[in-house]
Amino acid sequence: MLDTVAGRGANDLDMNLHMNQDDTARQHFLIALKKRVNLNMGGQIRSSFETDIRPELAKEAGHPLNDFDKDDRKMAKAAIERTHKYKAWAAMTYISQGMMWEIVDGVLDHDLDRLQTAFNEYKSRPTKLGSLTLKPDLKLPRNISETEIHRQPGGFCFETHADDITAGARYNGGGLMYSAGRGRKAVAGKSGGDFVLSILRERYPDFKPTRILELGCGTGRNTPSYKQLCPDAEVYAIDIAPGLLRFAHAYAEHEGQAVHFAQMDACELDFADESFDLVVSHILGHETTTRGLPKWINEALRVLKPGGIAFHVDVPTQPGYLKLADQVLNDWQVRYNGEPFWMGWADANVKQIMHDAGVPDDMMFAEHMRRDEGGVWYCHGLRKPKNWAKPQKKAA
Ligand SMILES: C[S@@+](CC[C@H](N)C(=O)[O-])C[C@H]1O[C@@H](n2cnc3c(N)ncnc32)[C@H](O)[C@@H]1O
Repeated sequence: MLDTVAGRGANDLDMNLHMNQDDTARQHFLIALKKRVNLNMGGQIRSSFETDIRPELAKEAGHPLNDFDKDDRKMAKAAIERTHKYKAWAAMTYISQGMMWEIVDGVLDHDLDRLQTAFNEYKSRPTKLGSLTLKPDLKLPRNISETEIHRQPGGFCFETHADDITAGARYNGGGLMYSAGRGRKAVAGKSGGDFVLSILRERYPDFKPTRILELGCGTGRNTPSYKQLCPDAEVYAIDIAPGLLRFAHAYAEHEGQAVHFAQMDACELDFADESFDLVVSHILGHETTTRGLPKWINEALRVLKPGGIAFHVDVPTQPGYLKLADQVLNDWQVRYNGEPFWMGWADANVKQIMHDAGVPDDMMFAEHMRRDEGGVWYCHGLRKPKNWAKPQKKAA
């Protein structure tokens, strides 16, 4: 499991961030601060919205507010934005996110050289378990390459030299503190891959994938689990960001799992039709534009074998699951905290996308699922019908 460690069990070739005591103290402070902002200050906004603001707005509007209605969201937004609680929450969220990246870069000041040396070592090994294929000429989608997602300095595609792993190291450092600060606990020794495979085992006990593909694998936090738990399967993983993929390759090699990583756009996969049994993604949907989302969901379907399964795990920001106050807070994250696609994702109708792709309703799912202490996730996917045919575009 990827973690931040303060020396125990660490070695020069592991891909964890090695924190010293100062880093750990800063990390603890930051997580406590983020929890206070997300849970306590956010909680106060939620409860005062429900007890005071919602009834007042309902009186003004002449109807009860509907958590699914975008006009009601606009009304809620205008009212919440006027409150001091919201302004304080917004300022503290912004500040704590900036602090998070300063803390991560503080760790990299003394640990980046070691991580880079570890990557160089895995890269130069004459025999590797898996592989890494980068395409320096690939046209990167600007929504990722030119955006500092999560306000990560330089963004996911940051690199200053051909082997640079900085973006991956930053991503992992930030990710751990970010999730903990939202009250999500790491599930000891388990990744998101364990979660997906445990649900598949329950729902499709006959299903034994022999070729698995992960889309938007990032630093490969979940990827090695697929190989570990399905040792007979060939496991492939793609992402657009080279520095994240380098990190993922080194991590999988360190974990002793054979994974084939490649730089590719999930919206235009280089794989043949019907070439995988299982296609998965972890938190890719909320990092894609509303135009990109149907493209990669369709690509996943195209590369699936008949009878194959697509399983995508993402953040549970859908209206209805989140009430209006939380939708307003998320809308702020879109504008100010490096989450440009959150609202597009929250409002996306993934069932409609699968329906338009010709998937029968009884072969698809889109639902909130609990992952033990790891919180609730919005999971969607399908089992590809044996007789699936790509719908023909209607003539204009
Ligand atoms: C939030 S990160 C999730 C990474 C990883 N799955 C995880 O759980 O840590 C989203 C990932 O999707 C990748 N991504 C976004 N759009 C993509 C695209 N069109 N093709 C391939 N990867 C993409 C980003 O580079 C990033 O690594």
